[in-house]
Amino acid sequence: MKLDDLKSLSGETKTILQLFDQHPDRAQAFSASTGDLLFDYSKTQIDADIRTALIGLCDQSNLADRRDAMFSGAKINETEGRAVLHTALRNLDGGPVEVDGLDVMPDVLDTLQRMRVFAEEVRGGTYAGAGGSFTDVVNIGIGGSDLGPVMATHALSPYHDGPRVHYVSNVDGAHIADILRQLDPTRTLVIVASKTFTTIETMTNARTARAWMSEGGGDPARQFAAVSSAMDKTRAFGIPEERVFGFADWVGGRYSVWGPVGLPVMIAVGSNAFDAFLRGAQSMDVHFRAAEWIENMPVMLALVGIWHRQVQGQASRAVLPYDQRLLRLPAYFQQLEMESNGKSVAMDGSTLDVPSGPVVWGEPGTNGQHAFYQLIHQGTDVIPCEFMVAAQGHEPELAHHHRLLLSNCLAQSEALMRGRSLEEARSRMAAKGLDGAELERQARHRVFPGNRPSTTLIYPQLTPFVLGQIIALYEHRVFVEGVLLGINSFDQWGVELGKELATSLGPIVDGEEDTAGKDGSTAALVEYALRHRAE
Ligand code: F6P
Repeated sequence: MKLDDLKSLSGETKTILQLFDQHPDRAQAFSASTGDLLFDYSKTQIDADIRTALIGLCDQSNLADRRDAMFSGAKINETEGRAVLHTALRNLDGGPVEVDGLDVMPDVLDTLQRMRVFAEEVRGGTYAGAGGSFTDVVNIGIGGSDLGPVMATHALSPYHDGPRVHYVSNVDGAHIADILRQLDPTRTLVIVASKTFTTIETMTNARTARAWMSEGGGDPARQFAAVSSAMDKTRAFGIPEERVFGFADWVGGRYSVWGPVGLPVMIAVGSNAFDAFLRGAQSMDVHFRAAEWIENMPVMLALVGIWHRQVQGQASRAVLPYDQRLLRLPAYFQQLEMESNGKSVAMDGSTLDVPSGPVVWGEPGTNGQHAFYQLIHQGTDVIPCEFMVAAQGHEPELAHHHRLLLSNCLAQSEALMRGRSLEEARSRMAAKGLDGAELERQARHRVFPGNRPSTTLIYPQLTPFVLGQIIALYEHRVFVEGVLLGINSFDQWGVELGKELATSLGPIVDGEEDTAGKDGSTAALVEYALRHRAE
């Protein structure tokens, strides 16, 4: 069966509630677990036949071969001629991994050990700035060199016992100004994180930080470190080799938090907690490589995604962590999923005949409930929701908060599934004393269509290990969806055109070149900006 054929099954689906009536053990049958993680997809319209058909897609797409090719170092990123081996960064005791006949693990483990030593020296104050031990670390990077460590630093705040860590990504001077304003330039470590070390935002911010440090009595030669694949460029910037942490081109930016890009996280939480983060991810790799498709959590998460987006045509997917410390997870997933699978050309150059990956968005619960859940419950579009929640928080004295959080999370998926019929809404209005036309009118506003799909990922507690499992779970989910769509999830050509045009607009915005050749809208906007600029 092809993806398209699945649409015929789509027309025959029962409501989620009917599926539960028919199959009381549905929650157990339509869930997957690994370690202490439980992924429940029973509140979707996927039944046994649909699941069988979806699983059939895995074999038709040679998923097992593609997966094994990725782990073995084959150059599956065909448009860039690269291997895809972020999994090697967490392969702590998994044996050799070869690229072009060479085992990459000695280098990976050597860099990891250098990171550990450096992180512990910074944390312990044995490596210090011009004014003493480091109180603050500023990571300058964007995209994959920012979103992963920002997300993980927030997520692991209960484990944060190192210096304060700040992140500067935007080229908007407001971002760096607001952060540097609070800091002592003699006791701040700056990490410039850029795989290419050419990204304009990062290099502009790095130069600004260097000037700020020099002017404030700091010592950039000592207080700068770099994370990059481009050693020639870090050298040219003036960062000594002993403070450059490299990684190979087979680590994609959005998959890079496991290696040197995770350095600020390691400085924040320490190398032991960072190791636990890697081990969590590694355990998900082991599961992904070994489990039968039906028990394979990344595969089933991917198939639920394919069912909603490519079969049912639902254009967006909400990621709703009931975990305040995962507040940057939706943004992280936006890059992971949308930069990976937001493509309309298949690996072989043909045009995709199914929709690309969905729009991914979200916010932590319960905040989102008081903002956009109205549309999720009663809007005209069905938005599959991916809930996440821990069984317990990190604050035993606030366990009553956590119980409220958990009950809200469970209530939302239940409400989406159940809905409220017109009949039920009418009796509520009648109980309030309404009747006639007014009862009818008011009741209609209070109807919830229900039968809206959601999944829930539940975990014991947001520990470093669990965070590693969750991130690796989603990485593999994206990989599986990409294989099923037949696209290359590991390039990002779609970001290039805007970068080129920004470069060509530079001198125009500076007023050095005129707007000839630009379209009328762009020219008018440039002219407005020039007219309203103080300088
Ligand atoms: O513009 C997109 C992108 O290339 C991302 O894929 C990447 O994560 C980001 O820019 C930053 O790139 P770099 O780490 O090379 O500065």
